[in-house]
Amino acid sequence: MTPPIIRKRSALRDLATRWKRSGETVGVVPTMGALHQGHLSLVRAAKKECDRVIVTVFVNPKQFNSPEDYENYPRTEEEDARKLTPFEVDAVYAPDGAEIYPDGFATTVSVSGLTDALCGVHRPGHFDGVATVVTKLFTQSMADRAYFGEKDYQQLQVVTRLSADLDLGTAVVPCPTIREEDGLAMSSRNLLLSDRARTWAPELNRAMEEMADGLLRGGDFETLKTEAISRIDRAGFTEVEYLELRSADTLELLQTADRPARLLAAAWLAGVRLIDNIAVG
Ligand code: PAJ
Repeated sequence: MTPPIIRKRSALRDLATRWKRSGETVGVVPTMGALHQGHLSLVRAAKKECDRVIVTVFVNPKQFNSPEDYENYPRTEEEDARKLTPFEVDAVYAPDGAEIYPDGFATTVSVSGLTDALCGVHRPGHFDGVATVVTKLFTQSMADRAYFGEKDYQQLQVVTRLSADLDLGTAVVPCPTIREEDGLAMSSRNLLLSDRARTWAPELNRAMEEMADGLLRGGDFETLKTEAISRIDRAGFTEVEYLELRSADTLELLQTADRPARLLAAAWLAGVRLIDNIAVG
């Protein structure tokens, strides 16, 4: 059976309240739908650790930088429900816009510091949109745990920070990035790539892996970065927005991996913005 779909926050609260009263733990997996194996890996982790699991599907208008990007975002609700069937989740929360942003909605949750770099610079307002909706999803679902992918590494740090700062009582659980066989990080946006562009896309990850190896062998950061960018350019990407080494927890900028570090990149391929990140050391 496909999971029950809940549209109203009052119905979600009633359910969660009932579960919590009977001592059950609640896990939430926030998504924007167009589910793939990356999302499903979070659902699997949640099912393993929580008595009850809610998957949320909401394409959040506040985190998009352009109306076209919001309109073009893939929406596959029936297919998503079908993909979730084998997991036996307790509910899919797919609210209408007004359940999240009712008339007169005027509050923004903004996390400083962590959002000053990387996607925060290139997508102004994006993390405010994410932080605001995630705060609402945590409070509406009353979740004990929330599952997030390392695929969106900066987002993971931002939601971890906000949940702690606002005492939301929801522990953020990080889950590893799931990749296609050729190394491309799974993403709903991959659906927007043409067949040709799809064959070029894994070069981003390959160039990053090569750069990470070079860094671990003591290579010079700038030289390795130049090589990586030219490899990415040759593959057909039109722009590398950033390719940076940062500390794994605070996202402080680094030149050498002298502590747990991440190499993070964003690049444009055939009109689609792809992001990826890998651990270094
Ligand atoms: P979305 O892009 O749908 O991603 C939902 C969750 O799935 C995020 O935690 C993301 O990191 C994780 N995810 C995506 N691809 C993954 C992959 N290849 N491997 C592992 N995890 C992956 O991120 C969002 O939606 C939104 O910003 C959201 C948090 C729902 C707020 O609107």
